[in-house]
Amino acid sequence: MKPETPLTIFELRAANKADLLFLDSGSKEEQFGPELAPHLAGFHVESDFAFLFFVSEVDLSPFLERRPGLEIRQTHHLRYDQWQDGAASPPIVLGPLQILPVFGAEAPPSIAPRPLGALEPLAIDPGLAFGFGGHPTTRACLEFLLRLYKPGSLESASPKTVLDLGCGTGILSLAAVRLGAASALGVDHSHLAADSAILNARKNGLADRVTIRRGLAQDFAAEPAELVLANIPLFVLSDLLELKAFDERRHLVISGLLPDEGDAFLNRLTTRLKVKVLDRMRSDRWVSFLIESVA
Ligand SMILES: C[S@@+](CC[C@H](N)C(=O)[O-])C[C@H]1O[C@@H](n2cnc3c(N)ncnc32)[C@H](O)[C@@H]1O
Repeated sequence: MKPETPLTIFELRAANKADLLFLDSGSKEEQFGPELAPHLAGFHVESDFAFLFFVSEVDLSPFLERRPGLEIRQTHHLRYDQWQDGAASPPIVLGPLQILPVFGAEAPPSIAPRPLGALEPLAIDPGLAFGFGGHPTTRACLEFLLRLYKPGSLESASPKTVLDLGCGTGILSLAAVRLGAASALGVDHSHLAADSAILNARKNGLADRVTIRRGLAQDFAAEPAELVLANIPLFVLSDLLELKAFDERRHLVISGLLPDEGDAFLNRLTTRLKVKVLDRMRSDRWVSFLIESVA
């Protein structure tokens, strides 16, 4: 999507959860009809509300007449680059990792000449999802991945399998595999995120090693992996801790916490598991941890 693309975003309230279930099956045409489907860029569903994103002005009345359980709570008009901070960002270069922004069918910008030792760049189209790479929480996770996969001291322990809970655009899964992991499973409950992550895995020729599933992170807590990446809100981290998602992992990357939350969460984690904090990063607002099992 080009930075100047105008978005119309409808926030819909559902009388019952069941009124939103139609979004989980069928094609866009079946869900929205032939008039709206071509203009629909994506949607995000929560328990009793949903956001619909259109790339032009559309009239929802005929659609709402067919679905009386739904009503418009608010309508927002903004440009794509206002929605997606980073839409106009320059490429990100972190050690051998290069992340190039791509928007729709546009060719990614190039970094020429490619720095010595640099890996094949990762093209990331954020679509409408979180995780182009510029956010401090994502950035911290990328730094930790560089440390984990750095040839040298930690190399022998570099995790081969990765579980990326709340994968957004898939950026961390893709980076882990680019840096040397054999495979990654990315999970996100958002349709916007799952769609974008699947697209990005294909775009980078990594769909055979990076699998994306749409669903709740909590439902994937028992999935085997040596490394768990979780850049996700505190309440989900708490659920994951209770569900033993962090047990018996070689490494954990925990991000997306406010400083107070971070310390409290770390206390709970270290009370339960034999782990040590290898590294921590703090931006003005967020803390992130790289954790290793000592068992
Ligand atoms: C802060 S973003 C991180 C995205 C990406 N991993 C990154 O580092 O840039 C958190 C992501 O978690 C997803 N999320 C939040 N709660 C979730 C849940 N319970 N299950 C799965 N995904 C969830 C959101 O949709 C969002 O894409």
